[in-house]
Amino acid sequence: MPRYARHLYRDGPHNPFPGLKALERRLGREIPHRLGSNEGLDMPHQALSQRFGDEVATLARSYSDAEAFGLRQRLATLLDIPLDTLLVDAGADSLIALALRATCEPDNVVIASAGTYPTFGYFAVGQGCDLQEVPYQNRPGVLAPNLAALAKAANRHHARLVYLANPDNPGGHLHEDQAIAALRQSLPEDCTLLLDEAYFDFRSDASTPSSTAVWPGVIRVRTFSKAHGLAGLRIGYAIAAPECLEMLQKVRIHYAVSSLAQAAAETVLDHADEVQAHIAAVIDRRERLTAWLRELGGDVPDSATNFVALRMPSADLAACVHAELLDAGTLVHRPPHPALGHVLRISTLEDALKPERLNALEKALQGAF
Ligand SMILES: Cc1ncc(COP(=O)(O)O)c(C=O)c1O
Repeated sequence: MPRYARHLYRDGPHNPFPGLKALERRLGREIPHRLGSNEGLDMPHQALSQRFGDEVATLARSYSDAEAFGLRQRLATLLDIPLDTLLVDAGADSLIALALRATCEPDNVVIASAGTYPTFGYFAVGQGCDLQEVPYQNRPGVLAPNLAALAKAANRHHARLVYLANPDNPGGHLHEDQAIAALRQSLPEDCTLLLDEAYFDFRSDASTPSSTAVWPGVIRVRTFSKAHGLAGLRIGYAIAAPECLEMLQKVRIHYAVSSLAQAAAETVLDHADEVQAHIAAVIDRRERLTAWLRELGGDVPDSATNFVALRMPSADLAACVHAELLDAGTLVHRPPHPALGHVLRISTLEDALKPERLNALEKALQGAF
């Protein structure tokens, strides 16, 4: 079986609009007179400038750099990996959709954990794939994707793609790199491992070399939505072998990432101290929230993310607490998948630690619900 959708093995399709920035780089000089792209370059943008400043108005007028060169350069330096192993797109979600588009044809089997980040299954089914789910390791203190079960299902079904969030959502569990490498080894050679690392930056070993390794047959997907606080601007990146990224490029929406999103991500990366301080604050709050919930008798697995998962004694109780919190104006997340209906996932913002904020939850844990 081929690793990618069969039609992508032909020559093309070739992006008809690589864009002005790519042309400037190829020519080695600027093109000052931009009469070829029909942008509204002469739009005065008084209202936009007044509200957001001149720079936002300037960025807004032009098509972005489809190759996100400046951002990829920064990432390549930061992660110490070659430029051609990086691809920037409109968030991890877009990259998940892109990986599916490049690898799968209708009726291909894809594998995921039952109850994991549901956007993967939503996109996979929307593309006509056959989604096969395997249960989590789900017992007191542990809510973790079952790597052996994922591998077994992939081999049994000759799957085209296996999805794994690491660290996981909603459990927060982190599988070590060795376990991921072993999972890759145990998958069929032509099956791609889509490794969703949206919460990568919260790992304590985020700066070790293996955490940025380019593994054959693996697409690592990351985002600026979490540790970098840019969820509203839609930007993320993939790390994969160059030949894999070439296939993804064939079906990518070339201007999906705006110039503003690219400039914002570059700026945030250029201020690494601010990002690191934010991550440290999140981890501190996560540990305090975990300790508090455990003191109340809650079953809270260790989390390597910016949220904690609380396993309630039953799905009914979790639904009641969820509804009562919502009545009081607080939204925590209860996974929609029936397999994880007993789980409540809480973002580790300062607000979560306010004494009154999670009142209904506290009552429930103390048996007074
Ligand atoms: C595991 C996982 N992947 C992807 C995403 C989406 O990331 P993005 O905002 O970059 O699309 C999320 C967001 O919650 C997530 O939890």
